[in-house]
Amino acid sequence: MFLHGTSRINDRGHLEIGGCDTVDLQAQFGTPLYVVDEQLVRQRCREYTEAFKASGLKFQVAYASKAFCVMAMCRLAEEEGLSLDVVSDGELYTALQAGFPADRIHFHGNNKTPDEIEMALDARIGCFVVDNEIELRMLQAIAARKEQRVKILLRVTPGVEAHTHEYISTGQTDSKFGFDIGNGSAYEAVKLAASQPNLELLGLHSHIGSQIFEVEGFQMAIQRVAEFSRTVKEGLSVTFSVINLGGGFGIRYVEGETPLHVSQYVQAITDAVKLHFEGIAPELPEIWVEPGRSIVGDAGTTLYTVGTSKDIPDVRKYVAVDGGMTDNPRPALYESKYEALLANRANEPVEETVSIAGKCCESGDMLIWDVELPKVDSGDLLAVSCTGAYNYSMASNYNRIRKPAVVFVKDGVGQLVVRRESLEDIVRHDVVPERINKQTVLS
Ligand code: LLP
Repeated sequence: MFLHGTSRINDRGHLEIGGCDTVDLQAQFGTPLYVVDEQLVRQRCREYTEAFKASGLKFQVAYASKAFCVMAMCRLAEEEGLSLDVVSDGELYTALQAGFPADRIHFHGNNKTPDEIEMALDARIGCFVVDNEIELRMLQAIAARKEQRVKILLRVTPGVEAHTHEYISTGQTDSKFGFDIGNGSAYEAVKLAASQPNLELLGLHSHIGSQIFEVEGFQMAIQRVAEFSRTVKEGLSVTFSVINLGGGFGIRYVEGETPLHVSQYVQAITDAVKLHFEGIAPELPEIWVEPGRSIVGDAGTTLYTVGTSKDIPDVRKYVAVDGGMTDNPRPALYESKYEALLANRANEPVEETVSIAGKCCESGDMLIWDVELPKVDSGDLLAVSCTGAYNYSMASNYNRIRKPAVVFVKDGVGQLVVRRESLEDIVRHDVVPERINKQTVLS
């Protein structure tokens, strides 16, 4: 397993993260356990802000909270000077409860409900990323009733398809998101938005996909958005002060994956903006980005205790851990690959190739196919790396398995940021109607 951030093998032969021995974390917090390397998250935040500062452009880096949205993470993003992107009342509520400044919150989503819009307006969030005409008209009406003027971006699809898994590509024309530039609907949306008395149209938003390893897709999207901005200026006399380029910057999950450094993505973006936006408006637009995975992904490690195993001679050996698709649905959903090591015997030589299974009643509940490990026994501690993004946030209670705890580690201290769910939590929202309790009398 590649050792990210502060991860290292200590002199007890154990995996250590943030100065904390993972075997001690197992004893203290139990497993499965999400462990987040706080220093690495902070480092990633700073890589973005420093790269943008170096570009000389005005900017906002909005952490895409969907990757991992808990109150401690919102606070950390706030401390690092980031803005925040939310896509539901739940993410918005988490951010507000964490005391995140509302004016740095941007609200996304292709189907915001009237209640969500009311809630966000009452909180006076910084910006809505408007996805479609129904939302645009609804936002205008609610803002007018509340006598507010609301800052908005229009989400556009520039017709760029990122090289990534098809389920997470969103920049192409055939997408549920946004106004299409190619078929004229984006132009009509700008016209409509600019004429709404309670909406202040700041600019455009474009997100072309996720886990992207090249800069060409971003450059192409910037070129299309700039051409569109020129058309809009000429045809409607509307200029944009903000261009939001979304997230999608890739990270290294497994050997052979070669994402760029954060500064390379940022430099490619800012260079392309300088090139293509020159002369459209008196000033270059402010650039916003929304990284999620690249802020938290490689800072996360999941610790599991090994339970049973099943050795099928000449076929494979399954080793089962105490979590699985409930805490990490990505292998089942996207065929995502992960690396792992035996955290309690990290220096021992590789002895066998095994496949890591979860504990759900489902054959597809596999975390890793074929990983080389020392001889694995029940009770061993398995660490799976790069689980910081879209693991906790996509976790489920399938099979009524409880969601794990989350711990931030730094300078030798492990700090609980999400408690492990209890069995009481599992039935907390259940209601048994009285009529089901009544005895059925058979006549
Ligand atoms: N902005 C927008 C509008 C987005 O839709 C997304 C991700 C992001 C920013 C952040 O993208 P990131 O930097 O994290 O790649 N569940 C999938 C990923 C879905 C991404 C959805 N949108 C996964 O586990 O890979």
